Amino acid sequence: MLYDPFRQPRATRADLPLLGPDAARAYLAQVRVQALEVLEDAPVTGSPLFEEGFVFGMVAQRRPVPARRYFTEALHHDVLAGLTAKPKTLPPKWFYDERGSRLFDTITTLPEYYPTRAEREILTRQADEIARLTGARTLVELGSGASDKTRQLLDALTRVGTLEHYAPVDVSHSALLEAGEALCRDYPALRVTATVTDFETDPALPAPDAGPRLVAFLGSTIGNLDTAQRDAFYTTLRGQLGDGDALLLGADLVKDPDTLVRAYDDAKGVTAAFNLNVLHVLNYRLGADFDSRSSPTTRCGTSTRSASRCGCAPAAGRR
Ligand SMILES: C[S@@+](CC[C@H](N)C(=O)[O-])C[C@H]1O[C@@H](n2cnc3c(N)ncnc32)[C@H](O)[C@@H]1O
Repeated sequence: MLYDPFRQPRATRADLPLLGPDAARAYLAQVRVQALEVLEDAPVTGSPLFEEGFVFGMVAQRRPVPARRYFTEALHHDVLAGLTAKPKTLPPKWFYDERGSRLFDTITTLPEYYPTRAEREILTRQADEIARLTGARTLVELGSGASDKTRQLLDALTRVGTLEHYAPVDVSHSALLEAGEALCRDYPALRVTATVTDFETDPALPAPDAGPRLVAFLGSTIGNLDTAQRDAFYTTLRGQLGDGDALLLGADLVKDPDTLVRAYDDAKGVTAAFNLNVLHVLNYRLGADFDSRSSPTTRCGTSTRSASRCGCAPAAGRR
């Protein structure tokens, strides 16, 4: 949402329309360029206000949108756009409240869900080499969830002796809290700082002087983004990573439809419960009145170019 504080009184701002994701990203990119242009010639001495960029720091920090409000507004936008589209869709990021994160953790243990096992095997074989090649001081993890497989990277980076800081990033507050507590207990020498954010709008990377930074993006979470979202995501990362930093991407490859359908529609119905959980999220976060006992539809697609992509839509879920 954009507003002019001189024209729109606070009481009416909640009714202003939200910008769509692409328009919002374009606007932010424009603001970023203009802000950098202003800062290039900005005085940083001559008055206590300018000293060490004090006033610019104040402006930059001024009333960031509280995370809870950002999430509610973005959810509202995505629900309106997604559930009026054909076919109906909802971005997977909204599936991960506390219950959703727990259900996802259970999914990763199911025999049908091969991606977690495959990634774990790869990390078992390659983590030491990755650690040696990157020499990372900071490991950032986007969509970190339970940070379970991450331990292989943490151990390998500890063995090469470079690791100082682990910075997990996730939309799920509860997942970060639970994983963070366990990691602080098991890695007492490691600095752990977790951030609740939507990595599509802000990957929350620690400053470049924390480098070399290794950004891990595991679990085929990239498959949650469509082509335009992927482009924007990679462009943002490319703009923020510098020399010596690295990206470790865990992505699925093309699969036969049977394997995919089994993985995303398991026999015990855990994935179905995970999909239906998004209706609880909508009821709780937006005051909607979906009947969460209705059956979700699961669709999986393969393409010759990209990894698997599965979507779920609440089918005729309204009372
Ligand atoms: C498929 S799970 C993968 C979890 C873990 N990385 C793994 O490999 O098992 C996706 C994770 O990313 C988080 N997530 C999804 N979309 C996100 C977004 N836009 N911003 C931040 N986190 C997101 C979810 O909360 C969840 O923890």
